[in-house]
Amino acid sequence: MEGSGEGSRDVVLPSRPVPGSYGVPFISAVRDRLDFFYLQGEDKYFESRAERYGSTVVRLNVPPGPFIARDPRVVALLDAKSFPVLFDVTKVEKRNVFTGTYMPSTSLTGGYRVLSYLDPSEPNHAKVKQLLFSLLASRKDAVVPAFRSNFGKLFDTVEEQIVSNGKSDFTGLNDTASFEFIGEAYFGVRPSESSALGTGGPAKAAKWLLWQICPIATLGLPMIVEEPLLHTVPLPPFLVSSDYKALFKYFSAAASKALDTAESLGLPREEACHNLLFATVFNSYGGFKRLLPGILSRLARADSKLHEKLAREIRKAVADAGGKVTLAALEKMELTKSVVWETLRVDPPVKFQYGRAKADLQIESHDASYSIKKGEMLFGYQPCATRDTRVFGPTAGQFVGDRFVGEEGRKLLKYVFWSNGPETESPSVDNKQCAGKNLVVLVGRLLLVELFLRYDTFTADVGAKVVITGVTKAATSVPGKA
Ligand code: HEM
Repeated sequence: MEGSGEGSRDVVLPSRPVPGSYGVPFISAVRDRLDFFYLQGEDKYFESRAERYGSTVVRLNVPPGPFIARDPRVVALLDAKSFPVLFDVTKVEKRNVFTGTYMPSTSLTGGYRVLSYLDPSEPNHAKVKQLLFSLLASRKDAVVPAFRSNFGKLFDTVEEQIVSNGKSDFTGLNDTASFEFIGEAYFGVRPSESSALGTGGPAKAAKWLLWQICPIATLGLPMIVEEPLLHTVPLPPFLVSSDYKALFKYFSAAASKALDTAESLGLPREEACHNLLFATVFNSYGGFKRLLPGILSRLARADSKLHEKLAREIRKAVADAGGKVTLAALEKMELTKSVVWETLRVDPPVKFQYGRAKADLQIESHDASYSIKKGEMLFGYQPCATRDTRVFGPTAGQFVGDRFVGEEGRKLLKYVFWSNGPETESPSVDNKQCAGKNLVVLVGRLLLVELFLRYDTFTADVGAKVVITGVTKAATSVPGKA
């Protein structure tokens, strides 16, 4: 590791039992859930426990606990050195741990355990992941035009709303634009053109997502409302079944070509369709819903010099490509790519990762070695790993746009973990790394390109939502500007 690691690889670390406490069964799990959501908040919840026990590997309870999860006890990995054990599928089992210590009812996914819940040792894991790789490869050329048309429209709306209301809710507009973009990019059919969905797709999708993630989410409502409603018992699946059916109808028609491919890979059509729905709506839409407002909010709070530099870099690369936004032009935008990685590092959109120890094993933090027993649940709180000062130095907690620029900067990429693997590695049918890894970084960059081809700079209020309050338009002569 940069600070202490690499050089100290030969040093024998002292062994230590994993410190921490689960407290009194049931009562402490509920009390800890309140700490996590309301009394301390996520970051403080983990940081304070690491501090109390003087260890970044520590025993603690994670939400939701009773009555949704049978067992809230985990060994938490809170540094950049211990965290990557979660990527090693020879050491951890990833069966049914996608959402953590509870698994949503399979009646929310057509009765199937979809890819995200499968361990690579299960035969369907490779088949479904291969289906997604084939789909994404076959639609490679559709991504840039689909993004530009949907987000071009989004920014037209932003400008109109700023003129009429003085502000524009990017977070809300992004829900519609991302949903339309993904459908068009993956299947060539905009969801709003499907009679089953019309313009209701994003709302139906958000409701279905809520049914699955509410045990580990907060909507910002008072504790007294959220605790009984979201965190104590699962929301009944039948209340979302008509929304799911409408989404499914869109996929069975729009994805017919991908479903043919599925059959050729030995996957039944129906199972493949539930999987495509999940990968599109949960993995992709759920991810972009968080990532794109996240990028904008970091930019809004950054130095305006960063806007200037990005605009210069993006416009030059596009001009050099004859005024076109090409994949080759995007590769030349080093700062742009760094800003996307930096956002994924400081604000990983998926913060929790889980895996069950397949056998007794040793896990090392920077300071000690710990014995883990077979069957114990390992849990990584990603922000603690990717904001580790022992790797990223004193600015670890800050957004530094150009952190990954240049040779030295790129050396740090192996500590960027947002995709459930180091940024220097690739997803495969044998691992659990995000199947959309390259697409995600591409889409993040496309947002910056669209923004800075249109505007020199912008301002936004950042809270639960990102609300754009002003844009300074670029001169009309900017090449590639929509
Ligand atoms: C898995 C993050 C977008 C498809 C994962 C995992 C993470 C992640 C952390 C591992 C979860 C675990 O097993 O613990 C993200 C983020 C995204 C994003 C932050 C966007 C900002 C996408 C997109 C796709 C996708 C666009 C499109 C295909 C998948 C699939 C898996 C996965 C299929 C399961 C992989 C497997 O089982 O081997 N993603 N993802 N994700 N992601 Fe993504």
